[in-house]
Amino acid sequence: MNPAGLELEVAGLEVAYGGVTALADVNITVPAGGFVSVLGANGAGKTTLVRSITSLLYLHKGRVRRGSITLGGQSILGKKSFEIVQAGVAQVPEGRKLFPNLTVKENLLCGAASRNDISGIDESLEQNLELFTQLRPLLNQTAGLLSGGEQQMVAVGRALMSQPALLICDELSLGLAPRIVHRLFELLTEINETRGTSILVIEQNANLALQHAANAYVLELGRVLIQGSAAELRGNSMVQELYLGGGDEAQNSYAAIPRPAQRRASSQRRSPSGSES
Ligand SMILES: Nc1ncnc2c1ncn2[C@@H]1O[C@H](COP(=O)(O)OP(=O)(O)OP(=O)(O)O)[C@@H](O)[C@H]1O
Ligand SMILES: [Mg+2]
Repeated sequence: MNPAGLELEVAGLEVAYGGVTALADVNITVPAGGFVSVLGANGAGKTTLVRSITSLLYLHKGRVRRGSITLGGQSILGKKSFEIVQAGVAQVPEGRKLFPNLTVKENLLCGAASRNDISGIDESLEQNLELFTQLRPLLNQTAGLLSGGEQQMVAVGRALMSQPALLICDELSLGLAPRIVHRLFELLTEINETRGTSILVIEQNANLALQHAANAYVLELGRVLIQGSAAELRGNSMVQELYLGGGDEAQNSYAAIPRPAQRRASSQRRSPSGSES
């Protein structure tokens, strides 16, 4: 049995790395059983939002300065990461982060580390293989040898092994062929509709995200710039310009949005290690 989805509420969230503010007054809601997308350019703060929810900021010397994060009405802010998994949150991290030398099956089982119901774990594994049928013959294959699309399926499957009430996917589409990304989004929709799992996808591929999500937010420089139903955002000229390939008119209206002052000196950049870990 999969648990029902839970509502995630992020309110007034402010996050900093040292003296650099990465998120400022961010308010985002994923309704119970909802499908929400957060769009944003490089450096907008998308991964920082994920790290804040999953309590992994400390690994990157980041900290929450202000705000609250609740899941199903209970605060998860300040909890340990394993407690957040137990509370019902699972993430597919940016860049997948599989254990390349372990097999597909071992990687999937890692996602069940918070559980001790052996027969339930077997059942979840079987559920995963029914969803990601192409992984069944690859169960004993070394994960690092799989194609990018197969690896992403393992990453989603691993997250599902904890039976999450909320599944967060950070840049699912990164480096994958459009056909594969399309299939992954179809599978997310299936998970959302058949299990009631709440879904939060963080994406630069706005086309698919806005097709599958019900609501969406656009982050820019750590703030929510635009929010609304996915249909509203698809019709929004600024979103069309930024993410869907719009024309000059959209570009002008985007440029005209009033913005707070740049949040930091251009010399202050992230560590050379680059992307999420
Ligand atoms: N470990 C870190 N130390 C210092 N600054 C960081 C760190 N990680 C991120 N930042 C800064 O915080 C801001 C938000 O970064 P974040 O990685 O959350 O953006 P993103 O929207 O996920 O970008 P991308 O699309 O490139 O993944 C950026 O200005 C980034 O330079
Ligand atoms: Mg990111």
